[in-house]
Amino acid sequence: MMASSYRDCKAWIAEGLPLSTSSNEACKLYDAILTQYVKWRNDETVGGFEGCMSAIQAADPNFVMGHVICTGLDLVSTGSSTRLDERLASAVRRTVELANSQVISPRERLHVQAMEHFSHGQFTKACNIWEDIMVDHPTDMLALKFAHDGYFYIGAKNQMRDSVARVLPYWKPHQPLFSYLKGMYSFGLLETNFYDQAEKVAMEGLALTPDDAWSVHSVAHVYEMKAEVDKGLKFMESREKDWQVSDVLASHNYWHWALYFIEKGEYEAALQIFDSQVFRRCKATGSMLDTVDASSMLCRLEMEGVCVGDRWRELLQVTRPHTDDHVTLFNDVHFLMASLGAKESGTSQRLLEGLQELAKEPGENAQHQMAQAIGVPMCQAMMEYDQGNYNQAMELLYPLRLRVVNIGGSDAQRDVFNQLLIHAAMKSENKHHQKLGRCLLLERDALRPNSPLTGRLMKRSLALHN
Ligand SMILES: [Fe+2]
Repeated sequence: MMASSYRDCKAWIAEGLPLSTSSNEACKLYDAILTQYVKWRNDETVGGFEGCMSAIQAADPNFVMGHVICTGLDLVSTGSSTRLDERLASAVRRTVELANSQVISPRERLHVQAMEHFSHGQFTKACNIWEDIMVDHPTDMLALKFAHDGYFYIGAKNQMRDSVARVLPYWKPHQPLFSYLKGMYSFGLLETNFYDQAEKVAMEGLALTPDDAWSVHSVAHVYEMKAEVDKGLKFMESREKDWQVSDVLASHNYWHWALYFIEKGEYEAALQIFDSQVFRRCKATGSMLDTVDASSMLCRLEMEGVCVGDRWRELLQVTRPHTDDHVTLFNDVHFLMASLGAKESGTSQRLLEGLQELAKEPGENAQHQMAQAIGVPMCQAMMEYDQGNYNQAMELLYPLRLRVVNIGGSDAQRDVFNQLLIHAAMKSENKHHQKLGRCLLLERDALRPNSPLTGRLMKRSLALHN
């Protein structure tokens, strides 16, 4: 039996969020999965995500919200596609069939609809439904978390912030998981450049729950965006013991830690974190977050002129099986970094051609609908850059730069494309491109003063003009 602290049937009714099952065990397992999701952490005392997911099916195989949370988590991890993965596609179908064959609440029915939209790549539609749920049920944490992730995948920064803001006053501090709203709100604030407020709110979250890894992460972003490198290093180190237990987010937090070292030009220290944490964890989990981070980090290091050795080839072992997934454009461009880095032109070509095919007939999938305008030219720009055709890379990427936000991820994650653009501009033989490169660096410096990385690039840019 589940630990008594998790909510049973009655407790969920008391919270105004009744679940359509008569099994207390299933209710508690739902809570256990939700809690691990919010904490970014496999709790081994309850069997981790996997253990809880099989237990919840056993406790009540017809529990619709049990299917919604399990299948929904599979989907928001973006690691496989219902287009190609029959197991995932049939899990979605089964959830819909179950929902249609029994009496469930309107809230539960909306959850099923949102999950179905998400499975078809319609992230915006899914988010709209999760928001609808929260109008009547502002304390529905599953809707809030799914919306938070959904907005993240479409670069909807304002919505990511306001979605939390509009429900926060309805929550009481004694409610389970309350403190985690702080980290979520903070993240939306920082992605919309409210850095001071973001730091304050995340620190409030940490005062309540010191091991809230998402609040730690939010503060890490604030220091990244303000180029407060030493503050960031000190912060991550002093709280490492608290945040590293959140195994699902730990690799990403280590990635943030390594970014400070790249900023400082301390590449060996960054590589050491890559080897001992980021890539080690990526290999073990194969999670998409860990995989895109590993790709992005090697790409940044190479742009800084660092030789990363065999690391690309090793990383390709993780990314190659996802070449045909095309779940998100954000993932796609990171997989491409790995195949380009490993000099696997066949894999790079296949990824691009697969995306071009989907772009021709995107159907209802919003990611595929964006492929023609954003995904394909981004991939082409990266391939041109890889071939040393900086002029063409610049022509493809520069007009797109303000739309890159639409592929999702954080400002810090998408910075790899800003850096790529600046490098392409500086390496292009076209004088106009070189001057544009300098403009981009001035923009960068104005927005984020005192960045050592910007300083190094500026030096090189100035040398070009002499
Ligand atoms: Fe991050």
